[in-house]
Amino acid sequence: MINITIYWQPITLCFPQWHVENICSILLVISRHRTIVLPFNSPYDYYYIERKKTKEFLKVCLPVKSGGGGQRYHQRETKMLIANSWMDYELLDCSSGERLERWGNVVLVRPDPQVIWDTPKATALWGRAHARYSRSDKGGGSWQFIKKFKEPWEISWACPQSQSLKFGLKCMGFKHTGVFPEQAVNWSRLQGIIRTANRTVKVLNMFAYTGAATLACAAAGAAVTHVDAAKGMVQWARENAARSGLGEKPIRWLADDCAKFVQRELRRGGKYDIIIMDPPSYGRGPGGEIWKLETEIHPLIRACAGLLSDDAPAFLVNSYTTGLSPSVMGYILRAEIGAKRGGSVDCDEIGLPVTAAGTALPCGASALWTK
Ligand SMILES: C[S@@+](CC[C@H](N)C(=O)[O-])C[C@H]1O[C@@H](n2cnc3c(N)ncnc32)[C@H](O)[C@@H]1O
Repeated sequence: MINITIYWQPITLCFPQWHVENICSILLVISRHRTIVLPFNSPYDYYYIERKKTKEFLKVCLPVKSGGGGQRYHQRETKMLIANSWMDYELLDCSSGERLERWGNVVLVRPDPQVIWDTPKATALWGRAHARYSRSDKGGGSWQFIKKFKEPWEISWACPQSQSLKFGLKCMGFKHTGVFPEQAVNWSRLQGIIRTANRTVKVLNMFAYTGAATLACAAAGAAVTHVDAAKGMVQWARENAARSGLGEKPIRWLADDCAKFVQRELRRGGKYDIIIMDPPSYGRGPGGEIWKLETEIHPLIRACAGLLSDDAPAFLVNSYTTGLSPSVMGYILRAEIGAKRGGSVDCDEIGLPVTAAGTALPCGASALWTK
């Protein structure tokens, strides 16, 4: 049995690699005069300590032992891919239509229509949020700022084998912050595919938002075409690239309507090795072009199939639209890509681990075709 001594470092310490059954206690050294012994009872123990002066959170967690055996979320049974690779983001708790989330040092409360349970609120951090987004009866909603914090603030996601990705965050309309953290499961999968290809892979990222998937692909060595209708979003994505030290990578930044761009690329004979898309339920192109997922998604995937190179390794579709299940997207990918090229399609829910509950919150759905 071993005793672990750790020294205070702001924000988070995680020890996913350790063989948890060998740990009997953790000694946290806060300062020269203050230490705390944290009894270690189970592999899922989490500790929160807030430093009074600086208001920094320290999270000590030992979530799962790496490789086999210690799987916490029974991925196979539920077919949910869990984004559990974050240090700077954490879904602390969820209850009564709301999520309590930590984004770096900032704690936010945001509505989530999936959270239809009213389980007891399991952490005191509910009462210490920096801001809360509330829906309005008239539609839309607004942020209520409770504690001061600087915007934009920054969080990072540690990619295996390359530098961390850094994202600027802001409290925006529609409860957005600038990152969909559950997408980390897709960033990891895409990076794996790009690295395995062992050549410069060309990626087309559509409805690309603030560029997280673009950056993940570029960090893994891909040349990326990033398309989003909103100029402001493209600018934000470029800033995220600069923050992440990826400003000089081969990324083509385009403010364009995705459907129109695909038609132009088909006429020009453009080819891509990997196509990814995360279309909204409803959106508008820069010229006011209406995007309605139910009617547009299949024609867009069909058109995109014509842009895939001969030895394309992957095609990924993600959606947050209720009613568009993983299997429905999988069906379309099989029909438009798998039927001609073979390979296989994985369709999964994607979700986030909920610290307080030790379970996972479904957030969206993804279908991935791979050769
Ligand atoms: C839900 S976000 C995508 C989330 C993002 N992929 C991620 O994981 O961080 C939807 C994006 O689609 C863009 N959009 C909506 N309609 C569009 C259109 N017709 N053409 C291009 N982009 C569009 C919006 O500007 C927005 O940035």
